[in-house]
This record gives sequence, C-alpha cells and structure tokens, in this order.
Amino acid sequence: MDALIPILNKLQDVFNTVGSETIQLPQIVVVGSQSAGKSSVIENIVGRDFLPRGIGIVTRRPLTLQLVYTPAEDKEIRCQHLGIPVPTQNEFALFAHQKDKVYTDFNELRQEIEAETERLGGKKNISKEPITLKIYSPKVVTLTLIDLPGITKIPVEDQPADIEQQVRDLILHYISNPNAIILAITPANIDFSTSEAVKFAKEVDPEGRRTLAVLTKLDLMDRGTDAYDVLCGRIIPVKLGIIGVINRSQEDILQKKPIEEALRYESAFLQKSYPSIANRNGTPFLAKTLNRLLMHHIRDCLPSLKARMNQMVSHFQTLVNSFGEPIEDKGRLLLQIITKFASNYCATIEGTAKNIEVSELF
Ligand code: GDP
Ligand code: NA
Ligand code: MG
Repeated sequence: MDALIPILNKLQDVFNTVGSETIQLPQIVVVGSQSAGKSSVIENIVGRDFLPRGIGIVTRRPLTLQLVYTPAEDKEIRCQHLGIPVPTQNEFALFAHQKDKVYTDFNELRQEIEAETERLGGKKNISKEPITLKIYSPKVVTLTLIDLPGITKIPVEDQPADIEQQVRDLILHYISNPNAIILAITPANIDFSTSEAVKFAKEVDPEGRRTLAVLTKLDLMDRGTDAYDVLCGRIIPVKLGIIGVINRSQEDILQKKPIEEALRYESAFLQKSYPSIANRNGTPFLAKTLNRLLMHHIRDCLPSLKARMNQMVSHFQTLVNSFGEPIEDKGRLLLQIITKFASNYCATIEGTAKNIEVSELF
C-alpha cells in the first residue's frame, strides 16, 4: 500500500518542475477553528514534535507536509536520489525553499517554519504561498498533509480587518480541490452541531464523499457528558466517519510529554471511557483510516487521471514538435520523463486497486 505514495509524490515533483498544475493529486487538508487541535493531530500522525503552536493565528501560511516512509535500509539510496549527504539519523527533513539543508533536529523545523512564515506574512498577515516540508522516516505512514490557518472570527491586535475573509478564501481554495480529502477538526468541548470545520466541508463536499471528521479534546468534556452520540454520528452524520482523539494538553506540551506516552494515555482513556467503540477511535485508527481513504480516492480518480495524463502527453508531444530541431532533445527528454511516470503511475495504481478490492474493501 505504501509503495504507491512515493510515486505520487515524485509525480507531483515532476509536474512542479515543469510548472504545471494540470494533475491534482489527492492530499489531506486539515481544517478547523483556531486551537481546535489541528497542529496537534498532525504531530500525532507524524509522531514527532515540530509544528509551531500557540494562541492566535500561529499558522499563517499553508504548510504542505509530505511524509515519506523510508526504512533505514533505503536511507542511503534515497539520499543519493535527493543529492544530499547521508545523515546518521534515520529521520530527516528537507524544505523546498532550502534544498541543500538537511534537518535532523526537529526543533529546528519549527524555527524555520516560523521564520519562513514571517518572511512572507510578516508578524500578523497570512500568505497564500505554501511552505513545503518533506519528512523521511521509518516511522511514518506515507501521506501528504496540508495544515492551514485556523478559521477565525475576530481580528486581533493589528491584524487586517478582512482576516476572516482571507482565511476563508484560503481554506476554500484548498478544500475545493475535488482530489482533496478533508480532515474536519472539531473540539469535543463545543457543540458539534455548530462545528465550523464541518460547515466548511459541507460547503464544498455536500455529499460527504471526502470528509472525515475528527473530534479532539475528548478529555476536556464537562463531567457527566460524553461524546458517544457525536462519535456514533447521531448529531451530524459524517459518511466516512467521526474519529475521536485525545492530544496533548498545553500542560503536557510545557512538560514535554513524549508522543509515545500521549498515545498510551489516549489508548487507555478510550478503553476506559469508550470501551465499546475504542477500536474505532484514537490516533492510530485515524492514521490507518486516512491511508485507506487515500487509496480508495486514488482508485476512484484513476480513469479521469489517466485520461488527463494522456491528454497532457499529447499536448507535450505537440509542444515538442513545435519546438523544432534545436531544443528537440530537451523536449523529448521531458516527454520521456513524463511518459515514464505516467505508465509507472497508472500500472501501480491499477495493481494496487486490484489488491484493494480483494483485501481492503469491507
Ligand atoms: P490548532 O490551532 O488547531 O493548530 O490547535 P493546537 O494543536 O495548537 O492546539 C491548541 C491547544 O489545545 C494546545 O494548547 C493543545 O495542547 C491543546 N489541545 C489540542 N488537542 C487537545 C486534546 O485533545 N486534549 C487537550 N487536553 N488539549 C488539547
Ligand atoms: Na493554535
Ligand atoms: Mg495550528
């Protein structure tokens, strides 16, 4: 299953290189109000602390985060392909805007994300320009996630008056992509029927084909209340599911509680408070569900993706022909690259799709 996504990521790289956005690949887009727990959910899926957090709009530029499953034995060859020195650590990261700097200290990632955010957005403004970060690790499920600024109602301090509209436009831009899977994040300590995240998702995905709801802060609910009704879809049904999680509290963060410990706590909490549905909730189940949705989604997109691929190939063929002699080699090389990826890509997806039908569908 994981074999498919590196091809998708590579393909995206090729199309980025040729400056084309013709093919939109599935991505997981995280949406929710400020402090709903978006960054916490992402960190738990990744299994590492590296995202800037805090009050106010900390996330002011989209962050495209590509997790690339890289077992230790493949590290060297991966680094060769990337043209970077092989780090001693098995987990390392690269920013698109800093191609030759290899990060192995994840705390430095947070600083660089903050610095890059300020570089375009200043201290208050948001910017549409994404920051792209790739994390290579033996401990991740291969996924592409996009973290967005939180939905906000009231500008703080000297934020622009139209900040709400700016954030709204930005979120809609990313979740309107029909190839995006929306992770709609809502804290359990607000009324789920008022969830901004679910409202946004419904706007672009009314049938709920590509929206997965996540209920955070199960540990912060009022005494005597529980989230059974929400989690079982009795308040607002979400076709693909509503998954409850417990992230680290601000106190846990200040005390540097390790993620592993937080995951153990989450599991114990679910067993104790939600025994009958514990196996359908929690961060590990969320990661598994995401991967499965992504695969199904790719399979569903395959016919039109393939058609667009072919269209693009013939477009490039025409383009190459029109270049004439002098740069023909360059054009041909490009065409070869794209054709090679197109055929690998489609073959792999078809193979995987067949496997899915046998082993993955309920
Ligand atoms: P974001 O603004 O949506 O990215 O939210 P963050 O992930 O930065 O979280 C905001 C605050 O809520 C932080 O102080 C987190 O520690 C806290 N938080 C997030 N999820 C949970 C949770 O499930 N339980 C508890 N107790 N606190 C949480
Ligand atoms: Na926040
Ligand atoms: Mg955040």
